[in-house]
Amino acid sequence: MAAGAPVPALRLQGVGRRFGALQALHDVSMEVAAGERRAILGPNGAGKTTLFNVVAGDFPPTSGSVELFGTDVTRLAPYARTRLGVCRTYQTSQLFMGLTVAQSLFLAIRGASGGRFSPLRPKPDDRSRVRAAEIAEAVGLAADLQTAVGSLSHGQQRQLEVGMALAGSPRLLMLDEPAAGLSRAERITLTDLIKRLPRDITVVIVEHDMDVALAVADRVTVMAEGTPLVEGDPEEIQSNRTVQDIYLGHAVGGRHG
Ligand SMILES: Nc1ncnc2c1ncn2[C@@H]1O[C@H](COP(=O)(O)OP(=O)(O)OP(=O)(O)O)[C@@H](O)[C@H]1O
Ligand SMILES: [Mg+2]
Repeated sequence: MAAGAPVPALRLQGVGRRFGALQALHDVSMEVAAGERRAILGPNGAGKTTLFNVVAGDFPPTSGSVELFGTDVTRLAPYARTRLGVCRTYQTSQLFMGLTVAQSLFLAIRGASGGRFSPLRPKPDDRSRVRAAEIAEAVGLAADLQTAVGSLSHGQQRQLEVGMALAGSPRLLMLDEPAAGLSRAERITLTDLIKRLPRDITVVIVEHDMDVALAVADRVTVMAEGTPLVEGDPEEIQSNRTVQDIYLGHAVGGRHG
């Protein structure tokens, strides 16, 4: 990197990930600038979630390197990456349906601060209460703090998952298909809250829904078969022939999950 060049939030060089005979990721090199909103599009099985797992540290890549904010984290455990500011949501819900919104946020706050993770006895201090209220406000759930998670709409549950990721005070927030299965109105609510996040949070969002991805993203990376094929701003992506062929033709309206 040139002297004085800004340090990217995320830098992947030649990343590969193999599962037995399957090459799930292949030669992935990309940089996401600090403060950027990057969408990652691609058909089912393209390797999008695997990419998140490699960045979050769920497992190491089998080749290449991962840098977060200028630090090589290729061999670091997930908690060490969380400490560097990486927080993520999962494609499938990780919520406890029996807890309230407030209790869920307390747990996430406590987990992020290294406290013991106990869904049975969340005993929040005043700071956690204030923080939970702030996060609930940021994700549009201020009026639902005492609502049971299981009673929230699907869209509100997705909003809560973003909130739980925010509890870790992320510098890099990775959202894995946050709008999957949402109604149009719910997608707009979620899109708006992502757009309102402060720019000191870099956001990488995996999204099948073109409207959500293009509304949120400054830049878009389109993956297929484990590797990035095209990168550009939303207008370039929309008019790109390769993208129309490999993505639009297959994935819109395709299955989620
Ligand atoms: N832990 C794993 N063990 C074995 N194979 C895996 C594992 N995780 C992912 N794969 C395989 O790697 C490939 C990429 O999967 P991945 O989940 O990253 O795709 P994706 O782009 O997120 O797809 P989707 O849009 O369906 O979520 C798939 O063929 C998948 O079956
Ligand atoms: Mg996925």
